[in-house]
Amino acid sequence: MGVLRRLFAAWVVVAIVFVGAPSSHGRTHYHKKKTSHRDDDESPSNSISMPPADSPAGPTVPSDPYPSGPPFIFDVRSYGAAGDGSTDDTAAFQAAWKAACVVENGVLLVPPDSSFMIRSTIFSGPCQPGFVFQVDGVLMPPDGPDCWPESDSKRQWLVFYRIDGITLTGQGTIEGNGEGWWNLPCKPHRGPNGSTLPGPCDSPALIRFFLSSNITVRNLCIENSPQFHIKFDGCEGVHIEGLSISSPALSPNTDGIHIENTKSVGIYNSLISNGDDCISIGPGCSGVDIQNVTCGPSHGISIGSLGVHNSQACVSNVTVRNSVIRNSDNGVRIKTWQGGMGSVSGITFDTVFMENVRNCIIIDQYYCFTKGCRNQTSAVYVTDVSYTNIKGTYDVRSPPIHFACSDTVPCTNITMSEVELLPFRGELVDDPFCWNAYGALQTLTIPPITCLQDGEPQTLQESLVYGC
Ligand SMILES: *[C@@H]1O[C@H](CO)[C@@H](O)[C@H](O)[C@H]1NC(C)=O
Ligand SMILES: *[C@@H]1O[C@H](CO)[C@@H](O)[C@H](O)[C@H]1NC(C)=O
Ligand SMILES: *[C@@H]1O[C@H](CO)[C@@H](O)[C@H](O)[C@H]1NC(C)=O
Ligand SMILES: *[C@@H]1O[C@H](CO)[C@@H](O)[C@H](O)[C@H]1NC(C)=O
Ligand SMILES: *[C@@H]1O[C@H](CO)[C@@H](O)[C@H](O)[C@H]1NC(C)=O
Ligand SMILES: *[C@@H]1O[C@H](CO)[C@@H](O)[C@H](O)[C@H]1NC(C)=O
Repeated sequence: MGVLRRLFAAWVVVAIVFVGAPSSHGRTHYHKKKTSHRDDDESPSNSISMPPADSPAGPTVPSDPYPSGPPFIFDVRSYGAAGDGSTDDTAAFQAAWKAACVVENGVLLVPPDSSFMIRSTIFSGPCQPGFVFQVDGVLMPPDGPDCWPESDSKRQWLVFYRIDGITLTGQGTIEGNGEGWWNLPCKPHRGPNGSTLPGPCDSPALIRFFLSSNITVRNLCIENSPQFHIKFDGCEGVHIEGLSISSPALSPNTDGIHIENTKSVGIYNSLISNGDDCISIGPGCSGVDIQNVTCGPSHGISIGSLGVHNSQACVSNVTVRNSVIRNSDNGVRIKTWQGGMGSVSGITFDTVFMENVRNCIIIDQYYCFTKGCRNQTSAVYVTDVSYTNIKGTYDVRSPPIHFACSDTVPCTNITMSEVELLPFRGELVDDPFCWNAYGALQTLTIPPITCLQDGEPQTLQESLVYGC
């Protein structure tokens, strides 16, 4: 974390303490990373401590207690967690989970000023309503592939499974210890002399919500993930707010927030810097609302990649509003493979500020890892995409606007208004690229676009829009 970001994070904490937490008194600590076990006299034998309703000296109160009753705090130290940053505390977390999950308003507390190491773990529901997993200290996996137990999943670390109604929050940090994974010789160009050795090259996603609903993730710092930072798969009802996600710009595959097969998602007021997509939206997502997210460095906000291996993908009703993308390889992107099916529709990019971004606005229906992908006749159909008030600067190594639609399935109803993109430095590259892209300009754009085609294509085969 940079100094500025740290100051900023500290400022947010101060703001929250003063503005947002009327009667909670356990929240004035801002954690110090990886400090040793705190020497205090909290009784470890008392596994459930219930604060009296209005006690100013009560234990940590969760940030959003549900009105139905007081929280029940389950401090992982009461279950034997050492919190010294190296002891394996998995069993203590599992025991605390088991206890907290079965009571209403249970809070599993990872206390401040300590650092807890746990192995890859699946925390399964169902839990009682109001469950909170509160990280006020540091929580982390084993340090890199060399310390990863052979028997543990290398695809995921912290997994929340089949839970309806859970809040993951806290003033602490989830530290991914990802560096050893990024440098594996099977990662792109990390092998001898810049080569890439053959895989398999699994690296764990740091946090995964799977088949769960009604999920809130709020106010955490999440950093240095081995792979995706936080991933939602098969979920419904996700509210993300005030996250700070960071990894180095050159850390491979460290997508910030990834969603797939997930409906009704709000992502708000968050800062993401990483080495891959800031937010990636996979197949099966709809009702996604993204507002006030700042990305960069990153690879931008992406819908896709979709349609890999001739698969069907349906993505609809996605809005990105009032957001900023800086120093990124892409701005707002839709990417599909040749040969897919389904559609991407109802996509709104409104008020997105770009700074030094390559490919500020891009639709790429020829997405391919190698140079050798065949062109195919079927494609994921892209339609009803609007770009409004997209302003800022682009990196002149690529044209700022690029619509490469499929030969057989054109993109339709692309609308643009108030798009103004200037070179960050260097010469104007004023040749937006369009291929098989239909749509309309509602205002003139900078650079000017003359390549969008009017009206509807003759050849559009509705039958290609399989049941989305
Ligand atoms: C979501 O979860 C909260 C607490 O866990 C609960 O109060 C609320 O009723 C749930 N909402 C839905 C729609 O399930
Ligand atoms: C790396 O490249 C150098 C110079 O081309 C060569 O001498 C060396 O043998 C290469 N090492 C490996 C491991 O390929
Ligand atoms: C936008 O998000 C930042 C945190 O990234 C927050 O400080 C700011 O208050 C938010 N702005 C609005 C208008 O909510
Ligand atoms: C689109 O998604 C938003 C949430 O982002 C939701 O409120 C709205 O109802 C959805 N619209 C349709 C037509 O499904
Ligand atoms: C695929 O189609 C595009 C657009 O027509 C064309 O530019 C490209 O060269 C084709 N690629 C191959 C491998 O045929
Ligand atoms: C074009 O897309 C916009 C949303 O971007 C939608 O409101 C409009 O109805 C679409 N027009 C047609 C002709 O489908």
